[in-house]
Amino acid sequence: MSVESTARRPVAVTPIPSLMTGSRHASRERASPGAHQACAGKGRQAGIPATRCALDAVSIQTAVPYIPLHVQYMTRVPPQKKIQRLLAVSNVFTPGSPIKEIDLFSGRMDQIIKLAGAIRQDGQHAAIYGERGVGKTSLANVLADAVNAFQHTATKANIRCARVNCNTEDTFRTLWKGILKKLDIHPEDHEVTVPLVVDELENRSTKTLIIIDEFDRLRDQTAISLMADTIKALSDTPTSSTVILVGVGDSIAELIGDHRSVERAMTQVNMPRMSSGELRQLIQKGVSRLEMTISQAALSRLAWFSEGLPFYAHLLSLHATSSAVQDDRNEVSDGDVQHAVNQAVDKSQHSIIGDYAAAIRSQRKDNKFAAVLLACALCEKDDLGYFPPRAVQYPLEFILNNTVQMSAYSRHLNEFCTDEHHNVLQKAGVDRKPIYRFDNPIIQPYVILRALAEKRLTEDALASFKPRPDPTLFDRLPPL
Ligand SMILES: Nc1ncnc2c1ncn2[C@@H]1O[C@H](COP(=O)(O)OP(=O)(O)OP(=O)(O)O)[C@@H](O)[C@H]1O
Ligand SMILES: [Mg+2]
Repeated sequence: MSVESTARRPVAVTPIPSLMTGSRHASRERASPGAHQACAGKGRQAGIPATRCALDAVSIQTAVPYIPLHVQYMTRVPPQKKIQRLLAVSNVFTPGSPIKEIDLFSGRMDQIIKLAGAIRQDGQHAAIYGERGVGKTSLANVLADAVNAFQHTATKANIRCARVNCNTEDTFRTLWKGILKKLDIHPEDHEVTVPLVVDELENRSTKTLIIIDEFDRLRDQTAISLMADTIKALSDTPTSSTVILVGVGDSIAELIGDHRSVERAMTQVNMPRMSSGELRQLIQKGVSRLEMTISQAALSRLAWFSEGLPFYAHLLSLHATSSAVQDDRNEVSDGDVQHAVNQAVDKSQHSIIGDYAAAIRSQRKDNKFAAVLLACALCEKDDLGYFPPRAVQYPLEFILNNTVQMSAYSRHLNEFCTDEHHNVLQKAGVDRKPIYRFDNPIIQPYVILRALAEKRLTEDALASFKPRPDPTLFDRLPPL
């Protein structure tokens, strides 16, 4: 971690679901493909009719929708229409891919205003950074689309846009060769240097927007330094080109290194998690596009369970709307949300399921890894997702319904940071004052959804959970 976080404000913990009821393995009792009859028995879920229960087993997959043939024989809506509706659902809710269409894009007004300011101002560039999966590429996509559309308006403002993705093998040359090619400039490999890039962009009469996504994947330190030099040179030269770097990171310095003079030339566009309002808008837009409706309760719960990550809003909405379509209903209801939670847990990426399993693995049956990890998912965090061990105490007492000393779980926190537990947490700070955060932010909501699906946590308990007010929790955190 190269940057100091000075402003650590507690992030309001979203109220969360209730504890320890029912079978821990309830989710495994659900119907498996081909076992439709079993649905009439104990595997049947509350509020979901038997016919639907059979369909649960074949609900569409996240990335590549699979529409089972026997859907055709089990439903009232003409099969072709139903298949079309299911396909439409997976076109609208796309947890696996960034937004490409501005009409399905929600919120992020502050970030758009900052980026528009950087594009307008000659010599200014920008960096979009934030947690994984928070919506950086989607923002860059809609910005590129808007800029391209702007060319054709009455103002005749002419902005060209080139978008590229970095990969781990890229060098300064390969990267800029790709960008220049998109601008119809074709230098030889050896010619691609900082002065050439600046020259080419300086000589253009048109305004140029260059978006470089996944910049954090660039491994070549020379390429990163040369990129900093290029941006500095571009900002010192009267070119009307804007470079926007996009990548995972807590700060601009994490993306481009400690180049203070470049930082001044770059507008910092931090992407925090989405607010509840933004998530509701995202879900509502998708539901309306599908010409469906959603109850207020279902909408709130989908937004609530997404924990600020648009990835989960898409994933849960995909399953909830599919559930309603499978039932020939037009309104997404509470039962569909319950179904979506179970599906999201069962059909999550293998890497998430694997990381979770490794994180809570232990030889001892009475171990507390799952409970401590859930407490970490529920506890108060600062703006960068960090929490001190003390923050875990209250949620853990809430989960275990018992008083707990910090010494009872500090070992677990440290073990979560080992290879054996797939480094589900990362540790920062100093030895005597450690702080932790989820290494992959996508795991944190999964831990909560998993507890809900397994009925170790009930929704009522989640809703009633309020972190104990502790104004000093983030006061004396060690530097990163
Ligand atoms: N503003 C938004 N409105 C609607 N959906 C969004 C928005 N932002 C992101 N999404 C959705 O959230 C998911 C993650 O978005 P995206 O891929 O843009 O994130 P990212 O930050 O670029 O992720 P990564 O760090 O993995 O590159 C996608 O399903 C995308 O469709
Ligand atoms: Mg991205």
